[in-house]
Amino acid sequence: MKEKIEILMREALAAVEACESNADLGKVKVKYLGKSGELTALLRGMKDVPADQRPVIGGYVNEARDAITAAAESKEKTLKAKETEEKMLKESIDVTYQPTDVKLGSLHPCTLVKNEIVDIFTSLGFSVAQGPEVELDFFNFQALNIPKDHPARDMQDTFYLGDEMLLRTHTSPVQVRTMLDKKPPIRIVVPGKVYRPDDDATHSPMFQQIEGLVVDKHITLCDLKGILSLFAKELFDKNTKIRFRPSYFPFTEPSVEVDVTCSQCHGKGCRLCKGTGWIEVLGAGVVNPKVLENCGIDSNEYSGFAFGMGIERITMIKYGIPDMRILFENDARFLRSFR
Ligand code: PHE
Repeated sequence: MKEKIEILMREALAAVEACESNADLGKVKVKYLGKSGELTALLRGMKDVPADQRPVIGGYVNEARDAITAAAESKEKTLKAKETEEKMLKESIDVTYQPTDVKLGSLHPCTLVKNEIVDIFTSLGFSVAQGPEVELDFFNFQALNIPKDHPARDMQDTFYLGDEMLLRTHTSPVQVRTMLDKKPPIRIVVPGKVYRPDDDATHSPMFQQIEGLVVDKHITLCDLKGILSLFAKELFDKNTKIRFRPSYFPFTEPSVEVDVTCSQCHGKGCRLCKGTGWIEVLGAGVVNPKVLENCGIDSNEYSGFAFGMGIERITMIKYGIPDMRILFENDARFLRSFR
C-alpha cells in the first residue's frame, strides 16, 4: 500500500510539473485529488488494510495529498504569472498612437463674443454682476422710471407670470438691484438672458444682453463716450469709430443710440450697414437722477452712465451673420466654423 501511494504521488507530481496551462492543471487536480480521483480511490481501499496499520497508511495518504496540493498551488501561481505576462505583451498600449477622428466641441459664437466683451470691461476695472431671469415688475420697470401703464412698456412688453412677476425684458433691473445693494463707486457689467415677444430674422423671444453701469462722483456723458469708444476699438478693430444719436429711455437722461463704423466696409457703405457706413450696436445714456433716488443714492452727489447691448446682435455684426435664427439652430457645421 505504501508503495502504491508513493508511485501515485510521484506520478501526480510529475503530471503537475508537466502542466503548461491552468486548464491542464485543473484536469490533473481532478484526476488525482477530485472526489472520484485516484487518491480518493486509494483511501477507499483502506478498508482492506489491517486495522493496526490504518493510522500509518492514512498518514501516508495525507502526506501524499498535501504534497500534491502544495505542488499544484505553486504551479498554479507560476502559470498565472506566465499567463498574465503573455497577456500584457499581447495587449500592450501604444501611447504614441494618434487617433484621427476625435470630435472636439467648441464654444458657441455668442459665448465667445460675450466672453470677449466681459474681458474688455473687466480689464477696465468693471466687475461682473448677475440677477434673476424671473424678475419683479418693480425692478424691471417701476424702479427704472417706467410706471405701470407707461407707454414705454410697449417697446418691450413681455411674458408676465402673474401681476407683479415677469420674465425680465432687459438686464437693466440688475442696475437697480446693484445700486440698492452697494454704495458707489459702482462699475459693473451684467451678462444675461432676457425675454421679449418678438420672433423674426433679427429678433428672438430669448436673447442675451450685456448691461453696463458706472456710478460715481462727476460721471458725465463724456465718460460714457470715452469708455464705449475704447470698447468698440477693442471688440471690432482699432480704427472703429462710434457716434451718438439722441434717443429715449425712461431710465437715462439724456439717452443715446450708439452706432459703430461698419466692420465690413469701414464706413464706405455696404449691404451689412445698408449703405450707411454705420451700424447701431447699443442703447445708453446718463443714469436718470430719478433712478438714483429710487435706489437711495443722492443724485446731487453722484451721477452715472449705463448702456445695454444685445449679444446676438453684436455677434451678427462681428461675424457678418445675416439671420439671427442660425445662432439658435445648433447646426454643427455652423458651430464648427468658430473653432
Ligand atoms: N435696457 C435697454 C434695452 O434693453 C438698453 C439700455 C440699457 C439703454 C442701459 C440705456 C441704458 O433696450
